[in-house]
Amino acid sequence: MKLGAATILSSSLIIEKLAAIENEKRDPLSFKKTSFGQNLDLNTFDQASKYNNFYEFSLKKNEPAKLAHTLKTDPWSIKISGEVENPFTVSLDEIKNSYPLEERIYRFRCVEAWAIVLPWIGFPLSYILKKAKPNSKAKYVKFTTLYDPKQFPDQSKGVFGNIPYPYVEGLRIDEAMNELTLLGVGMYGKSLPKQNGAPIRLVVPWKYGFKSIKSIVSIELVEKEPQNTWKAINPREYGFYANVNPNVDHPRWSQARERKLGSFFKQRTLMFNGYEKEVAGMYKNMDLRKFI
Ligand code: MTE
Repeated sequence: MKLGAATILSSSLIIEKLAAIENEKRDPLSFKKTSFGQNLDLNTFDQASKYNNFYEFSLKKNEPAKLAHTLKTDPWSIKISGEVENPFTVSLDEIKNSYPLEERIYRFRCVEAWAIVLPWIGFPLSYILKKAKPNSKAKYVKFTTLYDPKQFPDQSKGVFGNIPYPYVEGLRIDEAMNELTLLGVGMYGKSLPKQNGAPIRLVVPWKYGFKSIKSIVSIELVEKEPQNTWKAINPREYGFYANVNPNVDHPRWSQARERKLGSFFKQRTLMFNGYEKEVAGMYKNMDLRKFI
């Protein structure tokens, strides 16, 4: 019995150690600081990198950090295709060298009613879209995560996996072009930890966290609203828009308040997660109770 407990303890220590080594491997990035979110109270790197939703690894929040070492993020490339004049494929190294990286502190609100404040490093998605030159049929942008069951253990379970793969998300073209919408390649001064969606992910701070798709390999400009993973799984509970809205409850819980990681007390959830000034205009003629 004692030996069993000792073995469990030592193997969990080994896992902790391996996770720490992985985090050490993160590349330093050069970036410029910005004024975004200077008034916000940051969460710690540990909170951001040990409490994750990444179903390709596990449903449990503490497990992606332990399992994500199987993801190979170098080399990596993204294909930009669809309704564009200039389709192209670009490597992550080229991306990092082509676009000036900046740090922005953003609020992040999960649909499950937890929240966090993070210093992301990335660049506006619009930079890459403009290079592709969307044509007049490009009304939406569809994003897809890598599909590789050898690297993502849950993908190898087929229909017994947590969710259908690959994970897909979408934005309307004006949302994608919005100044706040980032492609994130780092956080806390260095490249992204694998469990946070390395090497490149979306960051859309006024929408519930499931829109911020991780480990992206494809960005496709399309004419029709793409079917995003969570809406496909349960359209009654999850929509395409997923704008943070304290006035519209999730069918199973209230969205009026949230628990910021590390805080005991809940805080009020803000309309559009506090980015109302920047984004409300995009939805002025829409019934936000209908377009969830
Ligand atoms: N992207 C992929 N490919 N797979 C996922 O399971 N989870 C989403 C989103 N992006 C997810 C994903 C959800 S539900 C949330 S809340 C955020 O990632 C969590 O990001 P974080 O782990 O960096 O906090």
